[in-house]
Amino acid sequence: MALKHYLTSKHCVPAFSSFLLACLLAFSLQIFFFSPFSPDSLELPLLSSAFFPPNNKLQEVIKLGEGFLNNPEDVCVDTEGILYTATRDSWIKRLHRNGSWENWKKLNAHNLLGITMTKEGDLVVCDADEGLLKVGENMVSVVTSHVNGTRIRFADDVIEASDGSLYFSVASTKYELHNWYLDVLEAKPHGQLLKYDPSSGETSIILDDLCFANGVALSQDQQYLVVCETWKFRCLKYWLEGENKGKTEIFVDNLPGGPDNINLAPDGSFWIALLELTNGLEFIHTSKASKIFLAAFPKLIERVNGVYTKAMVVNVAADGKITKKFDDSNGKVLSFVTSAIEFEDHLYLGSLNSNFIGKLPLKSS
Ligand SMILES: *[C@@H]1O[C@H](CO)[C@@H](O)[C@H](O)[C@H]1NC(C)=O
Ligand SMILES: *[C@@H]1O[C@H](CO)[C@@H](O)[C@H](O)[C@H]1NC(C)=O
Repeated sequence: MALKHYLTSKHCVPAFSSFLLACLLAFSLQIFFFSPFSPDSLELPLLSSAFFPPNNKLQEVIKLGEGFLNNPEDVCVDTEGILYTATRDSWIKRLHRNGSWENWKKLNAHNLLGITMTKEGDLVVCDADEGLLKVGENMVSVVTSHVNGTRIRFADDVIEASDGSLYFSVASTKYELHNWYLDVLEAKPHGQLLKYDPSSGETSIILDDLCFANGVALSQDQQYLVVCETWKFRCLKYWLEGENKGKTEIFVDNLPGGPDNINLAPDGSFWIALLELTNGLEFIHTSKASKIFLAAFPKLIERVNGVYTKAMVVNVAADGKITKKFDDSNGKVLSFVTSAIEFEDHLYLGSLNSNFIGKLPLKSS
């Protein structure tokens, strides 16, 4: 009764607004001072894209499997020329030589990212929830799910070396696929490069504190590997052999977008898919308050993230020089292109915003 009286009394309105005000204040204090999200300023690249004006070459792609593929993030090809991809609806789908697609394997996993074919003919798949999976004609198994006692989350891309070791990236130890852009906004290094050694069964940390570790590729002679750091707009070279073994240096930096997956081309160069990380609101990346505000209202993030407005891939020679850039400057045909792989004079493009794989003839490009 007392409560009812209070609620219907004329004191109610001011009391209620003070309560709202107090809540708002508490909430602001909470997000500004006690948020687990503590962003740093992000350094955006100098405009190296000026050297490569938009050419919209990616608008010329042939669409493979249109309507059949739900955001095919990565693509790989086996020794028989069968093309594989992992989709958002947990399928591994493959394209046969005769042009027909097959729903090959449905996995009990929801966030399948980078894939690679092993020498033995099994597919290794990054599962952003579980770690690394191995998928064969008659089996699916977990290769590794832990490193140094902690669960592997957000495994992103993987490559097999000739000794059977698997090198793979963990994009972020703090964020997940669905909120990956918070890692960009926070601009703190939560990425890792890991190695799975099949002879010991051990998984170890090769590089820590990477800035969203993404694509991983081996050089043609396997003397080094390249790992991409998305919001650092660069890729690192990590020496596996030779006098610099164990050392890290910059392979390419100041890229005109955030590097995603990277693949070795037959001529020893690399194809790198680049993400448009900003959307004309660059100031956000240097404003701590704006970042904290965005982190508290993630619905607004789509407005500052440029991935849906553009697609870009570059070819980078083994010496780290950008030699070609293909783009879709307004996202008309392709946006959010996450991978580019060269096979028989064509480039195959995966994307997190398309229902097909793009196929671009390289001879005429
Ligand atoms: C294409 O090749 C696959 C694998 O050999 C086979 O299963 C499929 O039936 C073929 N499709 C057509 C249309 O020939
Ligand atoms: C491995 O875990 C231990 C204990 O949790 C920790 O002290 C150590 O720093 C970790 N090593 C690496 C390389 O992360």
